[in-house]
Amino acid sequence: MKTLAFDVYGTLIDTNGVLVLLNKIIGEKAKAFSQTWRDKQLEYSFRRGHMQNYVGFEVCTLQALEYCCLYYKIKLSNEEKKELMNIYAILPAFADVKESLIKLKEKGFRLYAFSNGKEAAVEKLLINAGIKELFLGVVSVDDIKTFKPSPATYAHFLRSAEVKGDEAWLISSNPFDVTGSISAGMKSAWVQRSSEAIFDPWEIQPMITVSSLLELAEKLD
Ligand code: LAC
Repeated sequence: MKTLAFDVYGTLIDTNGVLVLLNKIIGEKAKAFSQTWRDKQLEYSFRRGHMQNYVGFEVCTLQALEYCCLYYKIKLSNEEKKELMNIYAILPAFADVKESLIKLKEKGFRLYAFSNGKEAAVEKLLINAGIKELFLGVVSVDDIKTFKPSPATYAHFLRSAEVKGDEAWLISSNPFDVTGSISAGMKSAWVQRSSEAIFDPWEIQPMITVSSLLELAEKLD
């Protein structure tokens, strides 16, 4: 029986969910702000990993929000920042998630959520999206205090799910996560959530590319 490790932010959970509130607060710059926020959040996690100076993923998210305020010269009140961080904690799942997870479970796959986010934060998102019971468990990098794509994080997943790399797939819309997992000995599928999304032109490429999780559920055996 194969094991699937689903990345959370950007793969199961739509980080653009903050756009509605951002639109209300800052207007026309909302889309760019939201993208920079996400890019910086990831950059901060990469840098923290390299520096071996770990903080929780939510700290990377908050500090990236502060960076965006400086970069776009937008002054947000503490109340507004709090509101934005609160929304981050209840972001919605993508529309194709529940149906495809049910199909994959019916096909006999063992499903896990595997994230940079802390276990409690991820559980909250999965409960909110009504999909928590579909997973055998949540594995968080917080257990080992470093971030994806450190090979230690993928090894931690394999140990936690008690599976070998060649029987485990990482499912992610984040190219860095796909290349990281393959480099660490797993198989991986890239979910190209937008036609504009580019996969890094490296020598490491996904075993399969799908445009949605429903397509994944059809193709994966
Ligand atoms: C995660 C980020 C990388 O959920 O999307 O791990």
